[in-house]
Amino acid sequence: MISFSISPVNLMHAMTMALDLAVDGVSLHQKRVAIMCGYIADKMRLKPQDQQALLSAALMHDIGAASFSDERKRISNPNYVGRAMDIFVHAENGYILLKDSEPFSFIAETVRHHHDNWAGGNLSGLSGDQIPLHSRIIHLVDRVDINICRTKPILACRDDMRKLVQEDHGNHFDPMVVEAFLESSEKESFWLDLTVPDYVNTFNARLNLGGTPYNIEDLVKIAELFATLIDRMSRFTATHSRSVSGVAVFLSGLSGFSESELELMKISGLLHDLGKLSIPNSILEKPGPLDPQEKMTVRQHTFFTYRILSQIEHMETAAAWGAWHHETLDGEGYPFRLDATELTLGSRIMAVADIFVALTENRPYRKKLAQDVVGRIMRDMVERRKIAGNIVENLLSNYKMAEEIVLSQENWTQPLTIKEL
Ligand SMILES: [Fe+2]
Ligand SMILES: [Fe+2]
Ligand SMILES: [Fe+2]
Repeated sequence: MISFSISPVNLMHAMTMALDLAVDGVSLHQKRVAIMCGYIADKMRLKPQDQQALLSAALMHDIGAASFSDERKRISNPNYVGRAMDIFVHAENGYILLKDSEPFSFIAETVRHHHDNWAGGNLSGLSGDQIPLHSRIIHLVDRVDINICRTKPILACRDDMRKLVQEDHGNHFDPMVVEAFLESSEKESFWLDLTVPDYVNTFNARLNLGGTPYNIEDLVKIAELFATLIDRMSRFTATHSRSVSGVAVFLSGLSGFSESELELMKISGLLHDLGKLSIPNSILEKPGPLDPQEKMTVRQHTFFTYRILSQIEHMETAAAWGAWHHETLDGEGYPFRLDATELTLGSRIMAVADIFVALTENRPYRKKLAQDVVGRIMRDMVERRKIAGNIVENLLSNYKMAEEIVLSQENWTQPLTIKEL
């Protein structure tokens, strides 16, 4: 059994990196919100344990919007004109996704209320100090971060931001949090910290999160949460990550992997498409062929998967298994152009599992394919030195069982998130 212990700080850092992949949306927003929360927490003298909980929630507060690029754009647009209730959709979805997902369920309530206004009129029906304190803090700094002008030096925005908060006193924001913000944000460093990308990493060192390391079961649960975020990006991939994980574990079992390797393969399969969070949904859902630029965007996803997973301790192997699923034996795959001499058995298995699941899923441009067609396509790829023949033959001779794994995922239902209110 591999002994497995991951520092929560390290994992949180990696996972928020995944959430920040949204290039056209809330990129780095959550980290900046967390940095400002840190200042306010100090000013309000929150206990260390409460500070950890606040910062963890800040780093993931927009998780409910992570799967949808339009939603991300909407919540990061300071001039958004829409129904007042629209802003609560992602907060409620964040709560739904987190509440049953140990080890992050402790931040679910904070996330749920992070747009609740002090004066009331909220989806929750709460107002004033009925709203959790951590949500009130995130709410204020979230609005500050969304409203900071991006065209001037940050210190030139300071007065406008302070005015915006001061004038609001008691309407959207808790007067006590407003005080703490006004006192903290007098310092230039409060603002300048938001502009130094590397500070975000240093800042993460503040996180201690109770210090209990995550074990492999915790990691499986976290991987399941992120698989849900990835798969809900498109109705055509509702169970893709879970199916790939299941088939990869099945094929690894046939190849003699140990129990702990199978656990690692499960995680790796759940997260193999983690980098997809960077792809706009319009591309994933496009009903026709992708143009060259869209193809390039899609192709970035395995690179991000690798960079994120490989920085978590003990995850180097799982990162390679998961992220190298578009590398090919002839060295013409992407993004690292690895070849047969470098591709490990686990990576080869993942590539086969991913292709098999993709071919047996409905796609925007075609229906799922029949067994004989799947067999022909995969053997042709073996012929062209794209994927490993021994694994493909293993799969094809156990076709029904592999198909059963994919079909059984249909019984799994996404958490019942909401589209609108
Ligand atoms: Fe939000
Ligand atoms: Fe936000
Ligand atoms: Fe995939």
